[in-house]
Amino acid sequence: MRIHGSTVLLTGATGLLGQALAHEMAERGADLVLTGRRPDVLDPLAKELDARAVAADLSSPKEVRRLMKAAGEVDVVIANAAMLAFGLLSEFTAEEVDYLLDINLRSPVHLTRLAAEHMVAQQSGHLVFILSVAGKYASQRLSMYNCAKFGLRGYSRALRQELRPHNVGVSSILPGYIREPHSTKPEVKLPRWTGGSNSPEEIARATTRAIERDRGETVVSPLPVRLSASLAAQAPDLAHALFRRVDYDRVAREMHAGGKVHR
Ligand SMILES: NC(=O)c1ccc[n+]([C@@H]2O[C@H](COP(=O)([O-])OP(=O)(O)OC[C@H]3O[C@@H](n4cnc5c(N)ncnc54)[C@H](OP(=O)(O)O)[C@@H]3O)[C@@H](O)[C@H]2O)c1
Repeated sequence: MRIHGSTVLLTGATGLLGQALAHEMAERGADLVLTGRRPDVLDPLAKELDARAVAADLSSPKEVRRLMKAAGEVDVVIANAAMLAFGLLSEFTAEEVDYLLDINLRSPVHLTRLAAEHMVAQQSGHLVFILSVAGKYASQRLSMYNCAKFGLRGYSRALRQELRPHNVGVSSILPGYIREPHSTKPEVKLPRWTGGSNSPEEIARATTRAIERDRGETVVSPLPVRLSASLAAQAPDLAHALFRRVDYDRVAREMHAGGKVHR
């Protein structure tokens, strides 16, 4: 799929990775439709990149439909918006569980279901899901996030098979930890064995490669996290027994200390 000249709808454009993806797609010559909730961030970004801005709260199915109508016929969808949520299951109310599943799982499913109708009709297009290594490896205090990312990973794998005969590609990007270069928040110190983090720009470039080369699944992370995610997907019980020894869950525990819903 050529990005140049394609209409690309990007969700979560106002966030850390979203802004890098928006710049990357603009540099590749895409016609961009950007969405997020905060117009004070969305509108200047759209102006800078000569893109269309459609503000929407994706936790509402009605808003998802309104966004898709406003976006029109798109060639590429990058489902990037999500809310990172830390907490023990007992700490979440039923309403919070619904909200997190709405934004992290249901909205990308509905969004891509609607976009795929046009892609199938024109026999071309590409759907991208920004997942996480949390779609392969489950940790304590991340059950809500794991639930959405595991679910979306299954959905994207199934859709890839289903849409292949229609020449519509489906890719998943699984970042490890993404660096926040301009954050004022204290940075979580990653254990040394993880090999560190990646910049948002590295994830954005991997997304371009996935679209252009129709890659099914790309884990973007230093080798130790890539290997551990792969082991967790193959042999989850063995992975958990090994990872308990290196306190793999420490990062989630520390981030949890910053609040139940992180952002
Ligand atoms: N950061 C990491 O270390 C990391 C690691 C692995 C995977 N990821 C994945 O990468 C993607 C981007 O993460 P990020 O770090 O860039 O997150 P972020 O900076 O917190 O940005 C989240 C984006 O999602 C949007 N969003 C959240 N709730 C929304 C809602 N109800 N309706 C519409 N938009 C909503 C936000 O819009 P507003 O700000 O305008 O409200 C924002 O643009 C996510 O899918 C995340 O799971 C992140």
